[in-house]
Amino acid sequence: MEQVLSASTREKIQAHLAKYPIARSAIMGAFWLAQEQLGYLPRQAIREVAELIGLSEEQALGVATFYTMYYLKPVGQYRIHLCATLPCALRGAGQLYDLLVKRLGINAGETTADGRFSLFKAECLGSCATAPAAMINDDYWENLDQERLNKIVDALAAGQEPDLPKTLNRVGPGFTDGSGQKEAA
Ligand code: FES
Repeated sequence: MEQVLSASTREKIQAHLAKYPIARSAIMGAFWLAQEQLGYLPRQAIREVAELIGLSEEQALGVATFYTMYYLKPVGQYRIHLCATLPCALRGAGQLYDLLVKRLGINAGETTADGRFSLFKAECLGSCATAPAAMINDDYWENLDQERLNKIVDALAAGQEPDLPKTLNRVGPGFTDGSGQKEAA
């Protein structure tokens, strides 16, 4: 089968491998670099990474299928990982999920027909104190509510950067926007 990893990605993986005394320890970063190039990890990329590291395809596949940060099929331009674990669920993540399903017309694990959005239900994103939270591509969005989420989706759908704070600091009955100004409770 034709190789899918570019010469540049192979070089980056080799440089990454050089940082580790045991090559297999570098597999997660190597997958990340492959995914950066391809947008996801097709089976051939997993084979090639395994070969570069000196693992069997099965060993490499075990890692690629374990972590949700690796996509095994093509995904959209914006990957929305909405936390569905208890603290976020208690603060309305279920309603936010329903909103996304309705707006995007897809369920978790699916991608919109235009290739713009993919939706995932995530396990705890480690942002429980600012629940509910979502990770969209490499950005965290916290203290989400329907209004904030709608604004984010509006902006991304228009190809723009959402113009709102990524989080809100909780300081009592109301929140601040990070500027020290308390919003109405
Ligand atoms: S439960 Fe959602 S970030 Fe921890």
